[in-house]
Amino acid sequence: MLMTQSRDTLNRIVVLNPKGGCGKSTIATNIAAYYASRGGTPAIMDFDPQGSTLAWLERRPTDLPFIHGIAAFKKSMQATRSWQLRVPNDTANLIVDSPAGLHHDDLREITRDATSILVPVLPSPMDIHAAARCIADLLLVAKVDRRDRKLAVIANRTRKNTKSFAKLMRFLDSLGIPIIAVLRDSQNFVYAAEKGLGILEMQRSRVRPDVEQFNKVMQWLDEWPERRRNSNNEAGMRRSPFAKIAFLHKPHTGTT
Ligand SMILES: Nc1ncnc2c1ncn2[C@@H]1O[C@H](COP(=O)(O)OP(=O)(O)OP(=O)(O)O)[C@@H](O)[C@H]1O
Ligand SMILES: [Mg+2]
Repeated sequence: MLMTQSRDTLNRIVVLNPKGGCGKSTIATNIAAYYASRGGTPAIMDFDPQGSTLAWLERRPTDLPFIHGIAAFKKSMQATRSWQLRVPNDTANLIVDSPAGLHHDDLREITRDATSILVPVLPSPMDIHAAARCIADLLLVAKVDRRDRKLAVIANRTRKNTKSFAKLMRFLDSLGIPIIAVLRDSQNFVYAAEKGLGILEMQRSRVRPDVEQFNKVMQWLDEWPERRRNSNNEAGMRRSPFAKIAFLHKPHTGTT
């Protein structure tokens, strides 16, 4: 069973899709690099036994802004699970990288207290099918409420004007879940992963289109306090007995 500490002010971003190779670690590491570049110490929690996110951290040049790593995939007999998963008190942004083939129990635990859940999707028929299942599990098993606006999709490694790309966009549209960014298939992501960098830490002229796209991910993530406030307000309205009265006494605006 997975466990983590919860803190009301902690921005807990979960990158998740049980389908392997869709870009979870690539997106998680880039988000961490963005937060690190703004100051403060973000933390990255790696639930994947492959440990690819922590390996990326080890490759990270020491002169770049520090990112705290948490090896959630390691189970120690010497320490309690919550001690192992503790997040430094001065960490405001926590990015959780999840493994391929996540089970239902773990899905619930890993998404609990998430402020944002990002699902990267590749535009192939098999990946689209797997993403549909993943999103259904998030809604039905992990009980993520779409009205909380925590859930978003990133279309990854796309080549525009392909049939599967158009199919992916139609599919996501039909679910009413926002596609917050479309990342192109680019060697810049591969290079950054190899060197322990985020794309924004590479030569700007080389990565401009990728950074422009990735900024959209960050923009959506940054809106989490507003999203949470709005969804709390809406939930309050839905529960309020006045909501019904207001509905019954809705003023007539028609001209006929
Ligand atoms: N936009 C992209 N353009 C080019 N290559 C990419 C892009 N996104 C990811 N990749 C590459 O695709 C491969 C898989 O990406 P990544 O490891 O991030 O996926 P993952 O979902 O974390 O995989 P796993 O399920 O095994 O953990 C890596 O080699 C990565 O460098
Ligand atoms: Mg990974």
